[in-house]
Amino acid sequence: MNSPDAAFAPPRAGEEDPAFGVYIHWPFCLSKCPYCDFNSHVRREPIDEARFTRAFAAEIAATAARVPGRTVSTIFFGGGTPSLMQPATIGGVLDAVARHWRVAADAEITLEANPTSVEATRFRGYRTAGVNRVSLGVQALDDRVLAKLGRLHTAREALDAVAVARSIFDRYSFDLIYARPQQQPKDWARELQTALTEAGDHLSLYQLTIEPETPFFALHAAGKLRLPDEDTARALYDTTLEVCAAQGLPAYEISNHARPGGECRHNLVYWRAQEYAGIGPGAHGRLDIDGDRHATATEKRPEAWLAGVETQGNGLVTDDVLTREERSDEFLLMGLRLAEGIDLARYAEISNRPLDPVRVAMLHEHGLIETTAAGRLRVTLPGFPVLDAVVADLAA
Ligand SMILES: C[S@@+](CC[C@H](N)C(=O)[O-])C[C@H]1O[C@@H](n2cnc3c(N)ncnc32)[C@H](O)[C@@H]1O
Ligand code: SF4
Repeated sequence: MNSPDAAFAPPRAGEEDPAFGVYIHWPFCLSKCPYCDFNSHVRREPIDEARFTRAFAAEIAATAARVPGRTVSTIFFGGGTPSLMQPATIGGVLDAVARHWRVAADAEITLEANPTSVEATRFRGYRTAGVNRVSLGVQALDDRVLAKLGRLHTAREALDAVAVARSIFDRYSFDLIYARPQQQPKDWARELQTALTEAGDHLSLYQLTIEPETPFFALHAAGKLRLPDEDTARALYDTTLEVCAAQGLPAYEISNHARPGGECRHNLVYWRAQEYAGIGPGAHGRLDIDGDRHATATEKRPEAWLAGVETQGNGLVTDDVLTREERSDEFLLMGLRLAEGIDLARYAEISNRPLDPVRVAMLHEHGLIETTAAGRLRVTLPGFPVLDAVVADLAA
């Protein structure tokens, strides 16, 4: 890599911009992909969306009572498959958000969509409801690979859905999974080039992870799914950075690439340790109440979550005040994923002490971290493949 700065570029929106995100989880899919461990469930019976809309509204009201007066800067419908929701359900949830908080005029409102033709027919309705950005799970541009990933769409159908998204929304993103079995850097470079000709302002490119308790985990354990070795995985990552940077979408986070200004503002809220509400089954939130930072989580099972909201007004199963140490570790873990790195003064404020200068000096010496022109600390490109170890070292 000749020019790390070009391949890895900080987001344009500043950390100091006010941000409050609302995450809404839709926990249903048409089928379960064998690699996925997200909180998603397949149901044979139709989903009672009106009942879910009421429950989302109740949980939004309960959360707003705890953190009143916020201005919502981003809303994200994630899943599961939120593109299975009727546009009226999306509209109902957005109305509830606007009843309880002020929503910024330029709020980013994203919906995750599976790229099938049926779902694309709903895109216009989502826009009318208020959505202004979609994120599509394309995953691969090869039909044989898509079948192995258990996807219900072909590459053509996915690209058609991308074209529909492009015709309706100013902003769209799509996801691809790489470091797949037998994948070689030159094949990935070609696939990525094709993807980039279809890209808007954002792409998410994830290395395949083998998650416990998934069918892929069992296949992998049985030796029936051979992943690229460490060197190939590294070459695939380098290819990703190079190809995307050359097309004007440098990485602003380990797995996320954007044209300048096209970064996902909602995900930046997480990585910058700002405040967000988690609504719906299995959603996580971070709420700042009376100087404490609360980590919240809701019941994961959709029907149990509904019952909880209907009887007690919210589906909370966790509401912990984070200790200073937990807050500082989280700040490092999230912030060091970003090309902009972390503000050392903010770290010192959260943890009540600066980072250990000896550890910082050692990591600097090994070329794993660097100080930016703006005086922030960030992980270098060689440091990224060992990010977890770098964070563990700094947090120790
Ligand atoms: C909530 S999921 C998907 C949204 C949508 N349901 C879909 O599948 O199109 C968000 C993204 O996570 C990525 N993902 C899920 N499981 C993964 C895994 N085991 N390894 C790498 N990426 C994964 C996929 O790219 C997926 O699009
Ligand atoms: S990858 Fe998407 S469609 Fe597949 S199970 Fe996970 S959330 Fe559902």
